[in-house]
Amino acid sequence: MIKSVSKAEKINGIISLPGDKSISHRAMLLNSISNGSALVSNFCQGDDRNAMINCLNGLGINIQKVQLGDSIYVDDTFIVEGIGKGNLSKPEKMLDAGNSGTTFRLVSGLLATQAFESTITGDNSLQNRPMDRIINPLAKMGAIINGVNKPSYAPLKIHGGNLSGIEYVMPVASAQVKSCIMIAGIKAQGPTTIIQPELSRDHTERMLEAMGANIAIENLSIEIKPSDLSALDVVVPGDISGAAFWMVLASCHPDASITLKRVGLNPSRIGVIEVLKMMDANIKLSNIGEEAGEPYGDITIHSAELRGIDIEGDLIPRVIDEIPVLSLAASLAKGKTIIKDAGELRVKESDRITATVDGLSKLGAEIKETNDGMVISGKSNLVGASVDSFDDHRIAMTMGIAGVLSDGVTEIKRAEANMISYPGFWENLSILTNKQEDTNR
Ligand code: S3P
Repeated sequence: MIKSVSKAEKINGIISLPGDKSISHRAMLLNSISNGSALVSNFCQGDDRNAMINCLNGLGINIQKVQLGDSIYVDDTFIVEGIGKGNLSKPEKMLDAGNSGTTFRLVSGLLATQAFESTITGDNSLQNRPMDRIINPLAKMGAIINGVNKPSYAPLKIHGGNLSGIEYVMPVASAQVKSCIMIAGIKAQGPTTIIQPELSRDHTERMLEAMGANIAIENLSIEIKPSDLSALDVVVPGDISGAAFWMVLASCHPDASITLKRVGLNPSRIGVIEVLKMMDANIKLSNIGEEAGEPYGDITIHSAELRGIDIEGDLIPRVIDEIPVLSLAASLAKGKTIIKDAGELRVKESDRITATVDGLSKLGAEIKETNDGMVISGKSNLVGASVDSFDDHRIAMTMGIAGVLSDGVTEIKRAEANMISYPGFWENLSILTNKQEDTNR
């Protein structure tokens, strides 16, 4: 699908985001191995959600959509029947995580605890993302785990059971990897200790604590002992990674006001707010609350004059998914922005350094690729052009926002990639710009 997007005169509106993808995945998977049944509401939308549900169904977990008459989250509430310490069923066919790295890596941790052989795969993009980062620790714990076609890449064949706890110093800061190891550690013999190089999102730790797991956290070190989990009802907060698109749109547009309702504000995820504030954005938080160990609140953003900054170091894991859209903000900010230490962007759903630089350069941005980031000299305007999503949801949506902020018309190829995490994105864009954009299939 090619989407045509053009400049909007005014941006105004109130938006509710789909449920946070990371929290949704953990709520489904961890409740599957808990004692009791749990309701997961405002569950994330999009294809990644089906990836997790299909994998868990394939392992014999019963997950049903429920209609709650008095709920505001009618369409997106699921009941998960946990099996506690029971055994999962050996899947009849290969499990498929689709485009979802989180599903693949978290479910692999679960498969490593099961005394049967199974195979898990994913789409083309996922088959080219590094899996040695989970193979190494799971093999150290005692799982037999190998790439079917190429070592270190999906599909992986996993024969688990009888795992032993390990001490593991993580070579990269990755929430998917630490979560995979924690999930395996729940059923291993003895304690498992994970030492992180930097803090990445900590949703798994928070949810495990709320479910009564035997987990201790000290700075960057996590210790998990074999645990019985109690089922936990979760109302998933709105996805801050989806909210980031609207934060950048309102910050860069001269006449904008957007309020985002009930967005997750976990400190390990609000790097995007910190960065935009460092760039002089006008962002206010209100109606702060907490649910199942996760803070949330409303975010209101007004137009601002942004300035370039350096984005690096331990800030990077806390802002990793928002860097493409922050690069757009930097392209329209005053002065220079240097993004470094972000080599992980090259192994996401696409090479997000190349994809971002490609798209924004076509719109006239002054942006250069480096090994582990980008150097951007801000300009006062961008000009519409034909750009590509590279089949990556975050690139498709970044280019959509770029189109609204550019002169003329921007055509986005493979714009349907938003379906991975934010099916209502283009409709929300129409609401905020108060106009309908063209779509050619
Ligand atoms: C995620 C962790 C991040 C992020 C991804 C979702 C998660 O990756 O990029 O979109 O839900 O655990 P890392 O594993 O590299 O931290």
